[in-house]
Amino acid sequence: MKILLTILVAALGIGAGQHSVECMDSQMFMPDGQIAPVQMNQGWISTQAKQRAAELVSQMTLEEKCTLIHGVRITGGEEYEDGFHIQPIPRLGIPAIRMADGPQGVRNKTRSTYYPCGLSLAASWNRDVASKVGEGIGLDARARGVAIMLCPGVNIYRTALCGRNFEYYGEDPYLASETALHYIKGIQSKGVMATVKHFALNNQEYDRHCISSNADERTINEIYFPAFRKAVEEGNVACVMTSYNPVNGTHASENSWLIKDNLRAWGFEGIVMSDWTSSYSAVGCFGSGLDIEMPRGHVMIYEHAQELLENGVIQESWIDEKCQHILQTAIAYGFLDKPVKDESIPEDCDKSRANALAAALEGPVLLKNSGALPLKASKKTIIVLGPNADIVPYGGGSGAMDPIEGRNITLYAGLSKLGKGYKVELMDWQAPDYEKIRKAGAIVVAAGFNYDTEGEGFDRPYAFSQEQNDLICAVADANPNTVAVIYSGGEVDINPWIGKVNALVMAWYAGQEGGTALASILSGKVSPSGRLPFTFWGSLEANPAYPHYLISKPYGERKTKIDFQYPFIEYGEGIFLGYRGMKHFNVTPMFPLGYGLTYTDFSYSNLSVKNIPEGVEVSFTVSNNGKMEAAEVAQVYISALDAKIAMPDMELKGFEKVSITPKQSKEVTLLLPASAFSHYDATSHNWVSDTGTYRICVGASALDIKLSEVIEVKGFTSPCGNRIF
Ligand code: BGC
Repeated sequence: MKILLTILVAALGIGAGQHSVECMDSQMFMPDGQIAPVQMNQGWISTQAKQRAAELVSQMTLEEKCTLIHGVRITGGEEYEDGFHIQPIPRLGIPAIRMADGPQGVRNKTRSTYYPCGLSLAASWNRDVASKVGEGIGLDARARGVAIMLCPGVNIYRTALCGRNFEYYGEDPYLASETALHYIKGIQSKGVMATVKHFALNNQEYDRHCISSNADERTINEIYFPAFRKAVEEGNVACVMTSYNPVNGTHASENSWLIKDNLRAWGFEGIVMSDWTSSYSAVGCFGSGLDIEMPRGHVMIYEHAQELLENGVIQESWIDEKCQHILQTAIAYGFLDKPVKDESIPEDCDKSRANALAAALEGPVLLKNSGALPLKASKKTIIVLGPNADIVPYGGGSGAMDPIEGRNITLYAGLSKLGKGYKVELMDWQAPDYEKIRKAGAIVVAAGFNYDTEGEGFDRPYAFSQEQNDLICAVADANPNTVAVIYSGGEVDINPWIGKVNALVMAWYAGQEGGTALASILSGKVSPSGRLPFTFWGSLEANPAYPHYLISKPYGERKTKIDFQYPFIEYGEGIFLGYRGMKHFNVTPMFPLGYGLTYTDFSYSNLSVKNIPEGVEVSFTVSNNGKMEAAEVAQVYISALDAKIAMPDMELKGFEKVSITPKQSKEVTLLLPASAFSHYDATSHNWVSDTGTYRICVGASALDIKLSEVIEVKGFTSPCGNRIF
């Protein structure tokens, strides 16, 4: 079967179907080094919506305008005064507009379907999984009258320590962009706005209000911007949330380089909101291009506007522009004309639950299996124990969820429902019975973090508590059929016990259906199909970003330059983040990006690579040589062999997940567009195409290349510029 990816269509910015993109020249040839034309108009908000918004703005008093540009500030017990609403102006027919977190379901004053975390979606390497979760969240939002979902979070994974890695999509900008794009489209397809956050460089939680993330322009554009840019240019995302941290010395909500020179220059016409209490000065926020201060007005308020206008520091047209953005986006979504709440959708929706299960089946990554998996049904008992055995763990903070009562399936509950000859017993992990453990058929130890040890507002330790490590070691010493199931938002220190356990599954935070999904995977009903969305280095220090991660230095040492107002961290690893740094820094990780085992055996053959006018077409065959149906994640990396500038040894530019029945093969065809062969040039502040010699590599991980071919890339017809995603 031939699978033709629509990468090219997406790269041309016409994937969403409802907006027209103004192309400068539909048959433009891009020779090496030529600067790409900038796409200036996102264009999905109609002229009528813009005109209607402008008319409303012209009727508003300054005071009314100032109430619109911050979350509800009034006191007096109004229902919507909860820090999650845009203020209504009844006189003009502008309703209160409700927001909710994200990203694992609809939060804030409601219980809702709890989906797998962002890292799990990225680990699925499946665009449909991201779409399904987005659609489910869109339905859940409509069922509750939520107009704006505060998700997805797309900040890049730099080290294991960032407390919010679990919400995000891993270390690779292409994987993160594709996951975000489909998640956003899913949400917005239900008439609910998505908010891509946190713009930008919010890659650690430690001291997040103060520490400036400092990186060079090329690094920002090649690693940290792509997921935001794709969300804007191809996802038509309605809202963008700024981050808490300063970027190169200026807080994100006040950073006009971020908001005007970049975000708006990509054609973004929607709403830019601050993160909650991340607005630090009135002048900064009025002038930066920020549209709404959340959750309430602290600095962008009427009193400050009056004073700054009187003194000529700001102009009223700046405030008009903010109102225009808010209203034109709300009008485009119909929020001024019809209720958001759709009474026909139940709050506990079957479709949402099914989508949560479908996603949970594809996220877990099998990192080791010496034969304990799949678990066999036998007369012998399978013992389940550990701190996460009979709870549904989750990452803490604004990404935490209140699941619908009775819907959470724990790992123990999932395994107990296997039936068919499986005998499953839950054991108190703080008082293990080693006699029973020795006699058991297999042991499943569910360890890891939870909301109080991994979450927003703090960075987490690399290692588990001594108690958890001791438990895993003791259990594995007692029974050779020990399977570790680890809940975490990224890499953890597995060195104390990886040599002892028989198998290791990374479960991330799998949502309400996680227990059912993991039971299916552990028992072999479904072959594991998740793959690592980040490089698993094996130690904190092996990660080249570690010396440049702030928490690794004592606070006093961080203020090493006097020309920055804030303590800062220099992103010293630059573009060589994660697997991109393996060769550059000469480090081999324990498990590379894209790694994950299955219960079958795949082989690759018939690579064909050819120049076509739109880019490079890559096709190959994947065969399932094993005995069960399983999915393989075929990954395409490129290496520039004669680059004139510093380039990573290899970069992910395409992937496809293919499900194949035993003894069958599938042909995969991918199109690498012109944008795949370009880099960001900080001198011209634009992307430039790089023709030349490339090795096109097809493999099962960044360190398991199965097929490769060298090709001379000559230049392409590139209708809308050569953005790199
Ligand atoms: C988080 C955002 C979240 C907001 C509202 C902030 O603390 O950083 O991601 O959307 O709170 O809960």
